[in-house]
Amino acid sequence: MYPFKPGSFAPRNGWYVAAFREEIGEKLLSRWILNQPVVLYRKADGTAVAVEGRCPHRHFPLGESKRVGDAIQCGYHGITFGADGKCTFIPSQKVVPGVYSIRAYPLVERGLWAWIWPGDPDKADESLLPTEEEIGFSRSADFHAKPFYYHHVNGRYQLLNDNLLDLTHLGYLHGGSIGTADDAATPEERDQNARRLSSRRIMKNTPPPPVTRERFGIDCPVDRISGMDFFYPGFHAGIGDSRVSEGYPQAGRQLTSSRVWHAVTPATKTTTNYFFAMGSPDKEGVEFMVEYLKPVLAEDIFATEQIEKIITTVDDVPPELMLRSDTTAVLGRRMLQAMMDAEAAKPGELT
Ligand code: FES
Ligand SMILES: [Fe+2]
Repeated sequence: MYPFKPGSFAPRNGWYVAAFREEIGEKLLSRWILNQPVVLYRKADGTAVAVEGRCPHRHFPLGESKRVGDAIQCGYHGITFGADGKCTFIPSQKVVPGVYSIRAYPLVERGLWAWIWPGDPDKADESLLPTEEEIGFSRSADFHAKPFYYHHVNGRYQLLNDNLLDLTHLGYLHGGSIGTADDAATPEERDQNARRLSSRRIMKNTPPPPVTRERFGIDCPVDRISGMDFFYPGFHAGIGDSRVSEGYPQAGRQLTSSRVWHAVTPATKTTTNYFFAMGSPDKEGVEFMVEYLKPVLAEDIFATEQIEKIITTVDDVPPELMLRSDTTAVLGRRMLQAMMDAEAAKPGELT
């Protein structure tokens, strides 16, 4: 499906964020992940688990069911499943057939997030997770990291990936807050490897974006670095640094130094789980941004949902008219398509 080949939806063999760790507790948390209902909860010993959210009996949602100890008792006819997915009890009979089980997904807690592997569990390799160092996350006392928002977005996941892989939108969609025209006019430096795709814009002597003017009360040019590292298949670690340019009062003063983390996890074919978090040594800055960024993220969600409406409604979506600035997004799409092709290939077949 757009913008991928017909029949291609999303890579399954990869780590996706299922939830912020702080969202997972005793209560059952329902979430759609890659077109499957999933239930997340924390066992009595504190371990977070993810199991299939559909009862195999009559497809009742297990997320709307009841916890009995570490197990889930289906809210319809009471069939009960342990945290490992095995059925432990069928109220109407003594024998529990071996087929009566649900999937238990590999789930790893790292940083602020709980990461799920929706594909082949034998391939779930923790070394494929982005490390805390790679994404600029730190546990040190002078670094402040915080989950900001979870949104269920009515648009397909790749629209959000495309948004994050093309920051030329900053000065226009977010022209009143975090971007300037130089976010689009400055050429991008790019670097790609098997784990991630990076892009950076280095802007010297550039007008400060409205947020910097507002927060620091300055009106002089700044030097800025803006960039994004896309860890396949659905995690974007952004970087934003700015300081006062040479030749102005307080030249070299660090204004902002922040990391933003966007996790994009397909929910259904045309909806997405979108997690936003931020970290910085500047605690006050992080707290300031919780409110400040709400309308900014709403602009990205607005763009995504409006585009989704158009592409699902017009009769024939013509090919996009690409620009040079689309290179990063195109490389990101190609990587995800290659992952999907590899999963679809028969053993021994080259993709
Ligand atoms: S649907 Fe779950 S027990 Fe019947
Ligand atoms: Fe945006």
